[in-house]
Amino acid sequence: MTTLALTGTGVYTPAHSISNEELVAVFNEYVRRYNAAHADAIAAGTVAQLLDSSVDFIIKASGIKRRYVMDKAGVLDPAIMCPRIPERPNDQISVLAEMAIASGRDALAAAERKASEIDAVIVSCANPQRAYPAIAIEVQNALGVDGYAFDMNVGCASAAFALQVASDMIAKGDARAILICSPEICSGHLDFRDRDSHFIFGDAAAAMVVEHTAAAKGRNSWEVVSTKLKTKFSNNIRNNFGFLNRTAPEGIGSRDKLFVQEGRKVFKEVIPMVSELILTHLAENAVSADTLRRLWLHQANLNMNELIAHRVLGRTASADEAPIILDEYGNTSSAGSVIAFHKYSTDLAPGDFGLLCAFGAGYSAGSVILRKLAA
Ligand code: COA
Repeated sequence: MTTLALTGTGVYTPAHSISNEELVAVFNEYVRRYNAAHADAIAAGTVAQLLDSSVDFIIKASGIKRRYVMDKAGVLDPAIMCPRIPERPNDQISVLAEMAIASGRDALAAAERKASEIDAVIVSCANPQRAYPAIAIEVQNALGVDGYAFDMNVGCASAAFALQVASDMIAKGDARAILICSPEICSGHLDFRDRDSHFIFGDAAAAMVVEHTAAAKGRNSWEVVSTKLKTKFSNNIRNNFGFLNRTAPEGIGSRDKLFVQEGRKVFKEVIPMVSELILTHLAENAVSADTLRRLWLHQANLNMNELIAHRVLGRTASADEAPIILDEYGNTSSAGSVIAFHKYSTDLAPGDFGLLCAFGAGYSAGSVILRKLAA
């Protein structure tokens, strides 16, 4: 047993939300315009006709009903279909840091900690805004945190990996308390013209405070009983955007510079990987699945979460046991499982066990066994 605790969480939710109906309407308008513009080539068989998207398919395949975004107008303009987020001068806070800070302030308040009591900041997310300086150092500066800060990226599993890193740092005596932020503007790397994936992602940020169990003051504090990480290389979720793109200018703007996935393969390969990780982790810690009061799973796909929960519990999980936020938020990458925890953990009793598991690109997966502390 470790002596670490998760003592506060926070969430930043953007002001704008897009329903499936709105998203499908703009997609189908784009399809209508494209097919009209290429009518001759389509008739000649040299260009493939585009097919409509559908609300029914989105609900059935993913469980997503709507998603929050930083900019709605650009996404819903059929001539743009991309968020428009203006560049900011370097003397202004960057947009990702701003989201991280909003969720971070909430987490600090929940943990009843001042910035002066935090010794490190980790920004751990799948979609960092720039190469450097680290977003985490900008967050550290804006919050007035002494010590040090760094960014890390392990795809959608980033928050769970950061939780292990922060726990290890505190156990080693490097820091008294650490703030982890997972801000995601997933709409920035989503091709809203791709029928297979245009509905998947949303924007949000989530944050956590980790410190010694003995110091925990937050009213919703949880002992971090154990963490376990797993990675396995796969090209089935990939984004080739990066600073080397300019060295091969012929590839700039091509489809692989945004999010691409083989959704079916991801579905089939990630479910066994994640279920096995969780079951092994529970067995290693002598925690029976029957004693788990709640599973806070990565929020990408409802069917996937139901299957993983079934494999872990050996039966169908109730909505209370494996709560879902992806219906409202879409897939918010690294923020998803933490948002689920934030919204659905205060009702549990001291001594209750829960398990947070984040998974995604890499493949990567992180399992965290938590036990509620007395208030
Ligand atoms: N509207 C209507 N039909 C659509 C559609 C859309 N937007 N997109 C695809 N379809 C069609 C396909 O053309 C296909 O038609 P066909 O059967 O005639 O060939 C059919 O629906 C099934 O498509 P498929 O891509 O196999 O759907 P799916 O059931 O696998 O669901 C995902 C797609 C992406 C929702 C699902 O695979 C998934 O969520 N996988 C896991 C992804 C994941 O977790 N990623 C992690 C990212 S961090």
